[in-house]
Amino acid sequence: MIIAVDGPAASGKGTIAKALARHYGLPCLDTGLLYRAVGLSVLKRGGDPDIKADALAACDFGDEILADPALRSEAVGSLASRVSVHQAVRDALIARQRDFATQPGGAILDGRDIGTVIAPDADAKIFVTASVHVRAERRYKDSLAQGGQPDMDSLIADIQARDTRDMSRDHAPLKIADGADLLDTSDLTIDAAVQRAIALVDAQL
Ligand code: C5P
Repeated sequence: MIIAVDGPAASGKGTIAKALARHYGLPCLDTGLLYRAVGLSVLKRGGDPDIKADALAACDFGDEILADPALRSEAVGSLASRVSVHQAVRDALIARQRDFATQPGGAILDGRDIGTVIAPDADAKIFVTASVHVRAERRYKDSLAQGGQPDMDSLIADIQARDTRDMSRDHAPLKIADGADLLDTSDLTIDAAVQRAIALVDAQL
């Protein structure tokens, strides 16, 4: 059984994917972390994320970068979004994702192109979204909780820039996959969103 969970930044897709993984007893892969690892690796190498050759060289990252705390910052999210426009980068990460998806027993993957490119034949597909304002508020609270000094206007601008880049790129743009159910988490608690996701997946299986 393969479950594809896609959606924009801070939509709640990661939280929902992990909760689905617990509910169905499946392993879960956050594919955004792979693109984030490439983005952070470009930075560490002094490369330019917009240059295909620099981004491609950074795909050769070691597993230790996946544990780097900087990986989850919005700055690295933005670098990830820049390296992910290159088809060569997407190709370099595809085998890892497909291997995970096709392991015996099944898997859950979350990202931007799981239901469209990585696992178009997934048994269940959900597209998780929320308003830009709600997503920025979530980032704001996360940042405050981590001792940061977030600025709401720049969080909104960052999210909008990332949405625009992810949705308008030529290769594997973020869009609702054929057969996916839409789940808007703007007005839902985490528990309510998870229950709704389980109901949607059950109905598709
Ligand atoms: O989900 P997350 O915010 O960690 O993803 C970071 C960036 O990586 C996204 O903005 C997107 O550009 C890219 N990405 C992608 N395809 C995926 C997962 C992430 O292009 N499957």
